Amino acid sequence: MNVNFKWIIKNLPFWLLILIVITLIAGGFEGVINGIILGQFPNLVGKSGTELILFLIKSTIIFIATYTAIVLQNIFLNMARKRLRVKLKKTMLINSFALKEDAASGLNHISNDATKIDDQYFAVIAGILSTGTAAIVSTIYVLRVNLLMGIIFVAFSCLSLIPMLFGKNKLGKLGEEWSNENSQMMRSASDWFKGLRDILQYQAQKPFFKRVSQDVETSENTLLKQENLQWWIQYANLLFTVLAIIAPWAIGFYFITNHQFGVTISALLSLTLSANSVVQNFRGLMQYWAQVASTTEIRKIKLAKNDIFEEAKTENEKPDIKFDDVSLNYKDHPIYQNLNFDLAYGKKILLQGPSGSGKSTLLNMVSGLLKPSHGTIKIGGENPNPAQSVYIPQTPWLFQGTIKDNLCLGESFTDQQLLQVLSEVGLADELGKDPLNRIIHPEQEDLSGGQRQRLVIARALLRDRPIILLDEITAALDEKNSDDIREILYNTPKTIIESAHHINFDLTKKYGFESWMIEDHHLVNNK
Ligand SMILES: Nc1ncnc2c1ncn2[C@@H]1O[C@H](COP(=O)(O)OP(=O)(O)OP(=O)(O)O)[C@@H](O)[C@H]1O
Ligand SMILES: [Mg+2]
Repeated sequence: MNVNFKWIIKNLPFWLLILIVITLIAGGFEGVINGIILGQFPNLVGKSGTELILFLIKSTIIFIATYTAIVLQNIFLNMARKRLRVKLKKTMLINSFALKEDAASGLNHISNDATKIDDQYFAVIAGILSTGTAAIVSTIYVLRVNLLMGIIFVAFSCLSLIPMLFGKNKLGKLGEEWSNENSQMMRSASDWFKGLRDILQYQAQKPFFKRVSQDVETSENTLLKQENLQWWIQYANLLFTVLAIIAPWAIGFYFITNHQFGVTISALLSLTLSANSVVQNFRGLMQYWAQVASTTEIRKIKLAKNDIFEEAKTENEKPDIKFDDVSLNYKDHPIYQNLNFDLAYGKKILLQGPSGSGKSTLLNMVSGLLKPSHGTIKIGGENPNPAQSVYIPQTPWLFQGTIKDNLCLGESFTDQQLLQVLSEVGLADELGKDPLNRIIHPEQEDLSGGQRQRLVIARALLRDRPIILLDEITAALDEKNSDDIREILYNTPKTIIESAHHINFDLTKKYGFESWMIEDHHLVNNK
């Protein structure tokens, strides 16, 4: 999907587009309205009182209509931008989820990319539309007042574009430089705050503060350069503006005194007040065009197959797990090569191997979250999907909300069921008087590591899934808790695959576990 003008039009209702077009045209008169009205003044000399009053009424209506159109134009454009932002963010939310992007990339899309597309594309398109229409309206008006003088005025006004043209590249470079330096500064500031504990512990305040303060200084220097350059460009601009007014006047006065080309004082006055608007709008248009290019890359959004709301069906209640010639690489780094096995329903597997050998990777493939690079995995004859199993991860995520919300995740269970399962994992008495309604703050870590782990185990126990995948679930638990929880989890006819460093062999023997080792990218069965 490409977020471009066509996408914008497709995602806006017809009535809003019509309202925008009408108000754009009416508001386009803003730049020339003073010229239109004040230009009449010389013609008013010697007019009757009634004619003067009529002139005032007409002027009032024109002023109010134009300014009203401008306000409405901005309101309609804002409404359009809001609709586009919502559409874009929803698309990004679904897309990142469907592509199983990591949290940092997903959040970056809906915050940074979406904001950049809004600021530097949607707002810019709105700017192009309003300055573009205003440029056309004022050009037509200026040329109609007096063709020759109109051309002369516009030509001289164009002089004021010169400093901008020369300064634009330099300004752009400084802007880019500042943006990089600012990101660098944010990274060091982030280290400074988030690394507080280690900085204090290793007494590294001085070097870290030096780094962050140098980055502040560097980015602020560039910003100052950029702002000063803008003012120098503005100064050159003003000097050219003086020339752009005086020179056409001189030519105009010459034509008036020689009675040439029908030039009048009234026309000169109108043109003086309007010609600048043509140039200003063209300048705005040029600047906006230049900005559009800066978002070209992030507006290309790779779309995933959007089936995330389709309910995953699990037909087979006692599925076997079949790996057929399965290999998995991360880029060119092989983790597994040619895995072939058939695991009947109810088998219990203990998966062992050094850190980084691929235990979590195997569990992820079985749960359907990770697709093999080659070969096929079938679970009960179907492609693996996350609804066939419960996967209890190494580092569980808790959601914002109450303990009850975290257990139910939108499904209905009775309080009795919930309390029962909490007591099975030993949490019923640990979480305060009213455990179900206790609110969890995921970022604040207000539950201990072991409590978080037991809470997600309780969530898994509530569900009747034929396959249980356990990934280092007891790393945060003491021996007593680990054994109790393992007893509960193991005491089931379901299939279990567990990855663990700390193992109670009495228990695994009692429940008939097979031991599998990861060796040289293969699984070796130790029986
Ligand atoms: N998304 C990824 N991109 C690239 N490499 C990855 C990715 N995820 C895992 N890896 C690599 O794959 C290998 C296996 O990782 P995995 O998490 O399966 O190991 P593990 O056996 O579970 O280790 P641990 O005991 O430390 O949890 C590691 O070398 C890891 O660096
Ligand atoms: Mg792991």
